[in-house]
Amino acid sequence: MTELKVLSYPHPTLKSVAKPVKEFDAHLSSIVKQMFEIMYKEESIVGLAAPQVGLNLRLFVMDTSPNQNDPVCLINPIIIDQQGECVSEEGCLTLPGVYVKVKRAKVITVEYQNEQGEKQTLTTEGLTANAIQHEIDHLEGILLLDKISNLKRIMALKKIEKAQRMES
Ligand code: CO
Repeated sequence: MTELKVLSYPHPTLKSVAKPVKEFDAHLSSIVKQMFEIMYKEESIVGLAAPQVGLNLRLFVMDTSPNQNDPVCLINPIIIDQQGECVSEEGCLTLPGVYVKVKRAKVITVEYQNEQGEKQTLTTEGLTANAIQHEIDHLEGILLLDKISNLKRIMALKKIEKAQRMES
């Protein structure tokens, strides 16, 4: 299995609709393990979606616990209920230096499969609900840049280019 790498914006996979995971096997476990490693290596991120590491699959890993010791993997997630509204500032590993105020549902119920393929249901709010909605957007090819005005997007793109220049 090849080593997964974080894609830089703008890569076409970041804008693609991801495909359902069908095989719950050793290959999947290896992907999930690598995604957790990448996520925990990066400071200040609480989630990582498969398209961000070049995989066109409907899965993401997340850890919203204060001490980063509660790894959760959501596969083929679907939000089946949502209530209320909240606005908070979000960043994204894919868009370095960009922070965007986003309106999300406050409380959500999500159905997903775990690494073994077992169906799970989670009702949650706050940071975790936000993270799940952010990561599910990634599975639809939606980025924070798609949630802001044209003018703000131009400014954000400049920030990304600058951050990418500094990284390289
Ligand atoms: Co993101």
